[in-house]
Amino acid sequence: MPAVPHKEPPLLFYKLQEMLKTDFLIIGSGIAGLTFAVKTAKRFPDKTITILTKANTDETNTKYAQGGIAVVNDAVRDSFEKHIDDTLIAGDGLCNKEIVEIVVTEGPARVNEIIAWGANFDKDAGGDYMRGKEGGHSEFRILHHKDITGFEIERALVEEVKRYPNIQIHNHWFVIDIITQHHLGMLVTKSTPDIECYGVYALNLQTNQIEKILAGITLMASGGAGQTYRTTTNPKIATGDGIAMTYRAKGRIENMEFIQFHPTALYEAGVSPSFLITEAVRGDGAILRNKDGEAFMPGYDQRADLAPRDVVARAIDSEMKRTGTEHVYLDCRHMDMEKFKTHFPNIYAKCKSIGIDVAEKMIPVAPAAHYCCGGIKTDEYGRTSITNLYACGECASTGLHGANRLASNSLLEALVFAHRCAEDAAQRIGSIGLHEEIPDWNASGTTQPREMILITQSAKELQLVMSDYVGIVRNDVRLQRAMSRLDLLHAEMEELYKSTTVSPQLCEVRNLITTGYLIVKSAQFRKESRGLHYNTDYPNKSKLLQNIVL
Ligand code: FAD
Ligand code: SIN
Repeated sequence: MPAVPHKEPPLLFYKLQEMLKTDFLIIGSGIAGLTFAVKTAKRFPDKTITILTKANTDETNTKYAQGGIAVVNDAVRDSFEKHIDDTLIAGDGLCNKEIVEIVVTEGPARVNEIIAWGANFDKDAGGDYMRGKEGGHSEFRILHHKDITGFEIERALVEEVKRYPNIQIHNHWFVIDIITQHHLGMLVTKSTPDIECYGVYALNLQTNQIEKILAGITLMASGGAGQTYRTTTNPKIATGDGIAMTYRAKGRIENMEFIQFHPTALYEAGVSPSFLITEAVRGDGAILRNKDGEAFMPGYDQRADLAPRDVVARAIDSEMKRTGTEHVYLDCRHMDMEKFKTHFPNIYAKCKSIGIDVAEKMIPVAPAAHYCCGGIKTDEYGRTSITNLYACGECASTGLHGANRLASNSLLEALVFAHRCAEDAAQRIGSIGLHEEIPDWNASGTTQPREMILITQSAKELQLVMSDYVGIVRNDVRLQRAMSRLDLLHAEMEELYKSTTVSPQLCEVRNLITTGYLIVKSAQFRKESRGLHYNTDYPNKSKLLQNIVL
């Protein structure tokens, strides 16, 4: 695909009178941010597109995706209707059907685009795509690149981004807050009718300066929040920053109680993040067993090992509690090992590296926090409740996942919504002016933190509280206890934030506490058990179908 003709780079992200400006500002360089960037750069060769990331470009949840991308591309056996039904069933009554239809039916075109940009998915000897299966899917429809699909997608997108001279990626810039009327001295509350986003304040980690960056359109593509929990498959960057900063800016946040625990993270005591054993391994025939070697899943659900994730994670949790163990096992010993090594070379190698030959030994696995189904509430074009602020990818709540995400639907959702955000933003950018009167960041009166331990210890406490009281199985007493602990952590952290120099560590813990608060508060509002939210005080579903919006 031809890129825009190369010419001298325009003044992209330029500093003029101490002010950084860009037409499109993207926070995050995962599948959502990079896809939006490519689409926008192609459409507007003369406009500036700036991506800020707090780590290296590819250090994203995207890079670690294993199983693949769910998409209908086999018209003989599969159909849009089946994929829509599977998504709705997993979502347990809370999906927005219109959004599900949009994502499923627009998905194939979006996946074809990234294939055209160079993303490779495995094919068989006859040249047909190999399709995997995961929990909750009624058909084999998951395109994958061995067991490193995310790595391949991220690689292809980073390459594609480089073809556009009007995209600049700035790594190691930590976005702290969204700029709104609040920074012009106005009182902004949840009921302010038209909150506007003018850009962000961000800490340049190379210079240690906090800069204001003015933007026409801002896209939040900051990913997930798995680090809110002690055990997670998410890398260190997944600290819910975008969700927390949107909440602080009085934007709407939805369905945060629905945290998805992946049933099969490799159990290695003390190792964080946990290495994932993709659900596709069960799709290819692996069986969960408890410490006595019993295949326990058929006793919990007729779909056995391929029941939706919430069902499998709860079953494992219950087996672990019943047998007093820290993990269960995934048995692959009966599988065709040549096929296993071809489809899952990374998993095979990882297990081998810790002394587990999967042909002979079972893999110890336990559930780990994996995916945030809720997030920044958006409409069908990724517009948030804040004007000129869009959100897509894992930080967004589009209505696709409802109470539980169907496996491998998130990469697809990110592609479809990056496209939709780009289409809508393209219509708006011409009418947006920059607000040059925004004040600089005010750091007066702050000092270097005296003890880093205050920050690191707060993160640990938060993760313990969330894991112990707001995990797979919840009840009112545990939620209340979590809320009391979070109140205290919040008060301590705000004190520290006001009085000390801002650092990424401080901001991340502050954001994690906010994310934890949003999860607990939403969980407290939901007086029922539905999808990923299971409260033993309300074991049944309520008749009232509602999304919790904070
Ligand atoms: P990310 O890819 O997480 O990118 C977030 C970006 O935001 C990063 O660049 C980060 O630096 C930046 N950022 C965050 N905060 C700030 C800040 N304050 N300032 C500046 N930058 C910031 N989904 C599937 O569909 N199929 C799978 O097979 C699959 N497997 C998975 C396996 C694992 C181990 C994990 C963790 C997830 C998996 N998922 C899978 C989920 C999927 O990978 C993610 O939901 C998706 O990649 C999220 O993409 P994103 O672009 O929204 O965010
Ligand atoms: C997996 O490969 O099991 C993860 C897929 C997903 O999270 O969608």
